Amino acid sequence: MAYNIDMNRMPEHVAIIMDGNGRWATEKGKERSYGHQAGVDTVRRIASESARLGVKYLTLYTFSTENWNRPADEVAALMGLVLTSLEDEIFIKNNVKFLVIGDMTRLPKPVQDKLKATMERTAGNTRMTLIAALSYSSRWEITEAVKKIASDVAEGKMNINDIEEDTISKNLTTNFMPDPDLLIRTGGEIRISNYLLWQIAYSELYFCDTYWPDFSEEDLHKAIAIYQSKQRRFGKTEEQVENNENTK
Ligand code: IPE
Ligand code: IPE
Ligand code: MG
Repeated sequence: MAYNIDMNRMPEHVAIIMDGNGRWATEKGKERSYGHQAGVDTVRRIASESARLGVKYLTLYTFSTENWNRPADEVAALMGLVLTSLEDEIFIKNNVKFLVIGDMTRLPKPVQDKLKATMERTAGNTRMTLIAALSYSSRWEITEAVKKIASDVAEGKMNINDIEEDTISKNLTTNFMPDPDLLIRTGGEIRISNYLLWQIAYSELYFCDTYWPDFSEEDLHKAIAIYQSKQRRFGKTEEQVENNENTK
């Protein structure tokens, strides 16, 4: 089924919790890492389609702080995949900038080096920014922000009464982009798993059962079509939203 998408009302920022790789592989009688490998192909397809549709920021939950607790061989397989599947040429060809959010210091040195090199090589690209949340969790990020703000106050660079919501947003790793308009989670679970807690305060949420390796361009269209069918009221009434243009 084809979905009608209004190209003039695209979500500027789409965030995705890419879940279900392991179950997808297990159901096929394969190792979980086979599912992660298949998930890389989905990342390529969905990133390319998002850029084509005019999405400006695509933030992909790739490896959470809690995922460090997985068996060592699975963690190693995932780190290996980051290393081998980041192809700078694809980013350059598609004019896509690549960035990472998360605690990069916990990543193996070769992975850190590769990520930094790709970020540098794609820094001037402008069509879309693809952000990999790697060794990321929202509580880690908020804790870091609190430490930074507390030290600014302690050093006299800031007054406590000057702390506003925007102060917190500016101290998060996502400070260079708008909050997600649309958050998608594949793989059937209806939970957030420590992802962008502050930033999704007013995002539209879309959950689907499809495992990430099977998530298709058409599935993305469906999520966007449903997003576009919603009226975003940001606390106002339906009538207020219809009569003034202050909302997206
Ligand atoms: C998501 O798939 C990818 C990562 C968390 C790295 P999972 O590996 O969580 O797959 P399931 O949820 O076990 O099926
Ligand atoms: C969330 O998936 C993290 C990523 C997609 C990278 P998980 O599979 O780790 O989430 P939980 O632990 O089942 O909630
Ligand atoms: Mg999972």
